[in-house]
Amino acid sequence: MGVLTVISTFASLSLIANGALVRVADFGTNPTSLQMNINVPSKLAAKPAIILALHGCGGTGEQYAQMTKYNTLSEQKGFITIFPSTKKDNNCWEVNTAKGLSRDAGGDNQGLASMIKYTISKYTADATKVFVTGTSSGCMMTNVMMATYPDLFAAASCYSGVAAGCLAGSPGASPQSADPACANGQKVKTAAEWGVIVKAMYPGYNGSYPRLATWHGTSDTFVHYKNLAEMLKEWSGLMGVEFTKNATDVPQSGYTQMVYGDGTKLVAYSAKGVGHTVPVHEADDLVWFGL
Ligand SMILES: *[C@@H]1O[C@H](CO)[C@@H](O)[C@H](O)[C@H]1NC(C)=O
Ligand SMILES: *[C@@H]1O[C@H](CO)[C@@H](O)[C@H](O)[C@H]1NC(C)=O
Repeated sequence: MGVLTVISTFASLSLIANGALVRVADFGTNPTSLQMNINVPSKLAAKPAIILALHGCGGTGEQYAQMTKYNTLSEQKGFITIFPSTKKDNNCWEVNTAKGLSRDAGGDNQGLASMIKYTISKYTADATKVFVTGTSSGCMMTNVMMATYPDLFAAASCYSGVAAGCLAGSPGASPQSADPACANGQKVKTAAEWGVIVKAMYPGYNGSYPRLATWHGTSDTFVHYKNLAEMLKEWSGLMGVEFTKNATDVPQSGYTQMVYGDGTKLVAYSAKGVGHTVPVHEADDLVWFGL
């Protein structure tokens, strides 16, 4: 057995050991050759909910499944988790190109939408309980999915990312390829300006946007903390909610919950002294999703 065979055998064994993450080959239109990995719990709920969980740059779906607790929680709650992988641009999601920031135009977002549609159909999942989350580049892509496929998702959560459209026109989306202005917090716009950008990603859409809980560390210098304010301007404008109050030490010491409107559509968690990235708060995500 050659070294490569040993490695790939080992990799596939660890895949199976990790909460039965299974690779799905033919899930529909997949213009950017994404990999679809799915976790279906042994005790699947009737009409299960679906969580799309997006890794950061340099990561993979398998790694994100191992880093997070969604698979363990799905055994208690019966939801399905999809952990896709992108292998392009240092494994960063396509949040910069014109096609990637449009609906059904051949970007990563279209392949991810296909995964959702496939899973709803194959497992008779509840189309009103589909959620998206992610870390860093995965949080950037969460924002892009909210903008381009708002009709697919009931709610979103994400960690340490940027507003949809922040990287528009950048040559790449990875730290190595991107225009650094976005990550450095220099893409500053009004709520109205962000609104125009998001509307242009799905022209004619007049429905509501998914609810969002977003997390960012004040000491993040990699994807600067200023991006949290931009993301909040973007979605508060589109959702028609304004900042109402802060709740300190929620959900834990050092975190501030920033509540918009009545807190059912948009909340942020500002994590004092936390860098890149804020640890995933899976239990809080599930509460936000209503699972
Ligand atoms: C929203 O868009 C749908 C589909 O294009 C259309 O049928 C509906 O009339 C629109 N509603 C409003 C309030 O504009
Ligand atoms: C709410 O909390 C955030 C994060 O700590 C802070 O930047 C902001 O100034 C606070 N707003 C008010 C009105 O206290």
